[in-house]
Amino acid sequence: MALRPYIVGNWKMNGARALQPVARSIDRAVQGMAKVEVAIAPPFPLISGFSKEAQSLAIGAQDCHFAPEGAYTGDVSAPILADSGASFVILGHSERRQGHGESNALVRDKVTAALEAGLKAIVCVGEEGATREAGEAERFVTAQVEASLPVDVPNAHEMLTIAYEPIWAIGTGKTPSLDEIGAMHRAIRARMTALFGEEVGSAIRILYGGSVNAQNAADILAIEGVDGALVGGASLAVESFVGIVIAAAEVE
Ligand code: PGA
Repeated sequence: MALRPYIVGNWKMNGARALQPVARSIDRAVQGMAKVEVAIAPPFPLISGFSKEAQSLAIGAQDCHFAPEGAYTGDVSAPILADSGASFVILGHSERRQGHGESNALVRDKVTAALEAGLKAIVCVGEEGATREAGEAERFVTAQVEASLPVDVPNAHEMLTIAYEPIWAIGTGKTPSLDEIGAMHRAIRARMTALFGEEVGSAIRILYGGSVNAQNAADILAIEGVDGALVGGASLAVESFVGIVIAAAEVE
């Protein structure tokens, strides 16, 4: 892993205030592991409390609206997130794309809104099982990446992260083979350098997500071109999440 490893916990719609001690323990456990950048995206109402307490952890959100303010009942804008203490936002997660009909164009507008509010964006992409079986995964995912990103991203290597999350691997305990993950990350990297130039495109981190746990993390994070992980289920418990962070710290 040539770039600084980035391990992000996506708590999804889990974690009431009772889980604050979990965030606190993770925060404490990763202090001193400066080699790894560690972050958690809890549900919206927890962002403010978590971000006030966190010393080493970055706190972010799982979605934002594309508009900075306005009559959008139930939505949360990027400036409100930034004001609540979020430093990043996950966008285009497949559970948003599938459950809320989010298109690549909408994800792109949300990325623009996040960047304008000073939030870093983690942009998720990934194919369905049938697309992989048809041999179309790389073509589909690289097209999805390109269509989900704004054309102009100042400081893209700092503000942007891509998360490759095969939909069929999320929460299922299944993962692609290490070779398949490596090949997909190479394909995404090639698209990044084509879009942003060699220097910036090589410095944008590309995470893998989908059934990462403390047992498989070392192998996955050792794959060339995998710069970290987006972790769902295993980020809700201190031991498993910190185990993944330790695995990232130990990758040469
Ligand atoms: P999982 O979820 O780790 O529970 O598979 C990953 C994600 O959806 O980000």
